Amino acid sequence: MRERRIRSRGLYPFLAGIFLFLLSVILFFSRMSSADNSSKKLPYKFFPNDFGPPSVDVSHYPPEIKGDYHLFLRKCSVCHTVARPLNAQFLQLSADHVARFKSDHPDFKSVSTDIVMPGPKAWALIVNRMMAKPGASISPQDGKKIVEFLVYDSKVRKTGKNFPAWETHREELLAHFRKLYPEMYKFLREIGEL
Ligand code: HEC
Repeated sequence: MRERRIRSRGLYPFLAGIFLFLLSVILFFSRMSSADNSSKKLPYKFFPNDFGPPSVDVSHYPPEIKGDYHLFLRKCSVCHTVARPLNAQFLQLSADHVARFKSDHPDFKSVSTDIVMPGPKAWALIVNRMMAKPGASISPQDGKKIVEFLVYDSKVRKTGKNFPAWETHREELLAHFRKLYPEMYKFLREIGEL
């Protein structure tokens, strides 16, 4: 009897010790995972573009651009859908076209790069970046054709008489994304991708 009482007296501090140990392990990991959720360390990126349509009507495009489109559909849908490039802000124009585009849109600063981000190598840079990713099998020749399609397509849909419709479309995508994924929206803004 005596012996048992001594043993059970030793048991409570022991259990309390285990309890405190487990509690601190749980607290440690929950702090770590909440740090992971902070906007600086989001595990992967997704974009407002992803929520737009994953195809485009090419029936009025020149035949060679239609061919490039089919190549683009095959090569650029391996890791994300083609909604990502098709609804993106990028617009590749030569330097003087960029200047003209800006003067056509005196309110360009307020339109901002969220809607259209023009640059002389806008698509070439993106496609090169994608070609370098592990798992992408895109030859330099295919890359060129894909850039040709993207340059042509963005010029048709993002400039001239189609600009207002494009602007509305992007604004809707951004508003939708901001509401559903405020953390990712903030993150993309912080790293300058919106
Ligand atoms: C091997 C996987 C892979 C393939 C193939 C791929 N992508 Fe991507 N793409 C990604 C990843 C991962 C991201 C997000 C990280 C980043 O922006 O680099 C991304 C992001 C993008 C973005 C958003 C970039 C931004 O900064 O807003 C565009 C646009 C894009 N891809 C277009 C394309 C096009 C066009 C092709 C075909 C030439 C393509 N992707 C093929 C993996 C891929």
